[in-house]
Amino acid sequence: MTGTNLDHRHLVLEADDLTRVFGEGGTEAGRVVALDGVSLTIAAGELAALVGPSGSGKSTLMHVFGCLDTPTGGTLKINGIGVSLLDDNALSAVRAHQIGFVFQQFFLNQTQTAIENVADGLLYTGIPRAERTRRASDALQRVGLGDRLTHRPSELSGGQRQRVAIARAVVGNPPLILADEPTGNLDSQASADIVALLHALNYEGTTIVVVTHDLKLAALFPRQIQMRDGSIVADVVAQP
Ligand SMILES: Nc1ncnc2c1ncn2[C@@H]1O[C@H](COP(=O)(O)OP(=O)(O)OP(=O)(O)O)[C@@H](O)[C@H]1O
Ligand SMILES: [Mg+2]
Repeated sequence: MTGTNLDHRHLVLEADDLTRVFGEGGTEAGRVVALDGVSLTIAAGELAALVGPSGSGKSTLMHVFGCLDTPTGGTLKINGIGVSLLDDNALSAVRAHQIGFVFQQFFLNQTQTAIENVADGLLYTGIPRAERTRRASDALQRVGLGDRLTHRPSELSGGQRQRVAIARAVVGNPPLILADEPTGNLDSQASADIVALLHALNYEGTTIVVVTHDLKLAALFPRQIQMRDGSIVADVVAQP
């Protein structure tokens, strides 16, 4: 079965004909069409892998989905909110409340403990500090790091650092988690553990889109979206 048959469920992401052209004002030679008309929906509860060769536009698409980059054309709704016309303040609010990010390079604050890093994921929500800390502790328990709350990133393994980053992404219970190559810096065992964790979080209800170039890992996901040259060339949903 191809395409989405989940449209009767609440859509957390609706992309229509997204384009992203880099170097538009410069010479024709410097012009790169990174996204060439991407239309896609993600329903609540999905766990999707985004795959494709290097340079096919995966990171560009994740940045646009995450409101970290503005598309050149097309429209995007996150959890029903049309983000195409929002100003910077409104976009920051969408990022803070609707989206959790996980990156290949973890991007943890090296001077802070695990629990402080995760609590920072709630900084712009108005939740009081004590409650932020309590929720951060819960999130670290969820990712299996309940015994590493006060460790700093330098005192954690790569896989544990990525777990902290995942805890930071899920701590606010955003409707959508975006992860760009979360296992790219990990060995195969740590990668398998992270993928198992993503499956467990999805089982608990979290909607997740993961970029990976590891086709073996991607095969474990219920939906596989394939990109090439800035377009989606295949979109396969496994039978439940
Ligand atoms: N800021 C930018 N300026 C100009 N071109 C860019 C920029 N960012 C990305 N590109 C180009 O857009 C295309 C898509 O890049 P992107 O990073 O999305 O690929 P990717 O699929 O994530 O690749 P990888 O698997 O290597 O991470 C590439 O040709 C890249 O060179
Ligand atoms: Mg990339």
